[in-house]
Amino acid sequence: MFDPVEKLKEFVRHPSVSTDPAYKDGMRGAQEFVSGLLRSLGFAVEVVKTDLHPIILAQRDGPTEWPHVIIYGHYDVQPPDPLGLWKTPPFEPMEREGRLWGRGTADNKGPLMTHIAAVGRLLEKHPRLPLRITFLIEGEEETGSPSFLPFLRKYKERLNGDFVYLSDTGIPREDQMVVTCGLRGLTLFEVEVTGAKMDLHSGLHGGVLRNPIQALTELCATLHTPDGRVNIPGFYDDVRDVAPWEREELRKLGTSEADYREFLGIPAFHIPPGYTPFEALRFLPTLEFNGIGGGYQGEGSKTVIPSKAFVKISCRLVPDQTPQKIRPLLYAAIRERMPADVSFRIIDQHDGIPYLVVPPGRSNTPADQPPRLAKAFRVIDAAAGEVFGRPPLYLREGGSVPIIADIKRVLGLDSLMLGLFLPEDNLHAPNESFNLRVMQKGSAVSEKMLSALAGV
Ligand code: BES
Ligand code: MN
Repeated sequence: MFDPVEKLKEFVRHPSVSTDPAYKDGMRGAQEFVSGLLRSLGFAVEVVKTDLHPIILAQRDGPTEWPHVIIYGHYDVQPPDPLGLWKTPPFEPMEREGRLWGRGTADNKGPLMTHIAAVGRLLEKHPRLPLRITFLIEGEEETGSPSFLPFLRKYKERLNGDFVYLSDTGIPREDQMVVTCGLRGLTLFEVEVTGAKMDLHSGLHGGVLRNPIQALTELCATLHTPDGRVNIPGFYDDVRDVAPWEREELRKLGTSEADYREFLGIPAFHIPPGYTPFEALRFLPTLEFNGIGGGYQGEGSKTVIPSKAFVKISCRLVPDQTPQKIRPLLYAAIRERMPADVSFRIIDQHDGIPYLVVPPGRSNTPADQPPRLAKAFRVIDAAAGEVFGRPPLYLREGGSVPIIADIKRVLGLDSLMLGLFLPEDNLHAPNESFNLRVMQKGSAVSEKMLSALAGV
């Protein structure tokens, strides 16, 4: 059996940044690395071409009466920028303080390796393990998975699993496992405002036209109410009431509001009334400004009225909101509120539908899960309890993995999500790392779950 940490280092050395064409070789390297590793474990590996980065479909087939688990992961990572803030280079993995440092160690190479290692050990002990396993590993997760939906439709027949298993979500502390039951959705777009048709000298022309930066920031200022809600008519209409068990479960989190505030380094929270910060980030939708620009950004000063200004906006959505319904509400408000003396366009970016799965025994409707998924939930509860010394919490996440709702829609399958990354892992930021004790324990949980599922 291979050494999972050494393998993870090899994986991290491939700079697989999906959004930037300059990393094409790193993308191919990471893809070939994963394909090779799964082949060495006896999987039949197909590398499915897409318009951009291929999807790895690796199967261990067997009689149809064997349970069939689909393990999802992604081999692409976020850009490493800003490079100057890394203590060690992002694609030269470094082991220290019980962690592995490097871009993608936590999102998602480490968690993926956690499960590959579990499968490797299990197959070594039981070469004839009565379990069908499909690894489904994509390379476009960090860019909104544009190829994934067409892939699902095309490969539907072969993806006839009992459920999907993955780790692309978090835990609050090293000793507290989480089974993630919900993900927020997303809708992203950009607004570009144009004033005059060229940049202008603000002395020659200042005072006769509306500055596009002013138009844009005035618009942005209308998008929230003073108490922190999103100020778009109808925005909250489809937000589902939170079930009492969810609030109860969240109360067991054990993080204090003060600690969370300190972790963020903010003087106060800004939350719509009636929610704790832990609730707000899981149960409420948001509208965020991700970037804003226009005019002179360089050293010193420049007396200019810029021709253009832009803002990048994303909304996190919660069940039962949909991008299809929210997008028109947003666009209508923007069109209505934008002053008539500038021109503008709205540029669509990607979407993701929110997701919720109710673990067995938590809802009032009995038998709401297919038996093998219900069994997997039960065995993961027991396995996490054994390995971590206490049962997992069942929580929603604030983040998004949009393909999980797509899988539910197209394949009809729910997902069992084992949280593995920690708040201090610095996902998407400089100095990303993955806790190797969590990796080792998470891998033990996976092995127990898969072996119980196979009945060995
Ligand atoms: N692993 C994250 C999702 C995540 C982040 C879950 C934080 C829980 C907590 C995933 O790789 C990711 O970053 N997703 C993007 C969405 C994607 C469409 C770009 C996100 O949530 O912003
Ligand atoms: Mn991820």
